[in-house]
Amino acid sequence: MTKEKINVFDYAETIDKAIKKGVLLNTNGEKFNSMVIGWGHLGIIWSMETFVVYVRQSRYTKPQLDRTKEFTISVPLGETDPEIFRVFGSLSGRDVNKADYVTLVEPSVNHTPGIKEYPLTIECEVLYAQDQDLDKIPEEVIKHYYIKGSDEGDFHTAYIGKIVDAYIIKD
Ligand SMILES: Cc1cc2nc3c(=O)[nH]c(=O)nc-3n(C[C@H](O)[C@H](O)[C@H](O)COP(=O)(O)O)c2cc1C
Repeated sequence: MTKEKINVFDYAETIDKAIKKGVLLNTNGEKFNSMVIGWGHLGIIWSMETFVVYVRQSRYTKPQLDRTKEFTISVPLGETDPEIFRVFGSLSGRDVNKADYVTLVEPSVNHTPGIKEYPLTIECEVLYAQDQDLDKIPEEVIKHYYIKGSDEGDFHTAYIGKIVDAYIIKD
């Protein structure tokens, strides 16, 4: 397998379109794990190229991120296996070993693998993490996304990841 280095901003449109359908957020603490994310953005802060993700407190991903302070984003280019999407977007790393469902690819700079089946890869190191303050979120958003007592009642933490490498995995 080879890696073709890219200027990640040349792929901004591809990444934006993919986020709307779901990209993968990989972590590698106790073990490799990955979850589907539908919120996130490529951008700039403090003159650095960054990728921001939002992770609910309840995710297995959360303590992994807090411990390792790094993550890797995997973006599909073309069709994807619906089974990977189902498992990674609905089951927890506490209950399943998601590494069994994909082909892991050694990272280049951080310590969190990419995924061959989702070839556009963005390695990140966490610069900053911020818990959401629910008091500052509009009520209509709270009603939709943060219903107390429901499975999805907990808030998100935003993680700003500095992009340390970006490439496309090739055969
Ligand atoms: C399309 C889609 C988008 C999602 N986006 C997010 C997200 O941005 N943040 C989040 O915390 N969970 C999101 N989820 C939910 C997680 O993918 C899901 O709860 C996953 O099973 C968590 O895995 P984990 O417990 O192994 O970390 C999304 C799920 C789907 C299907």
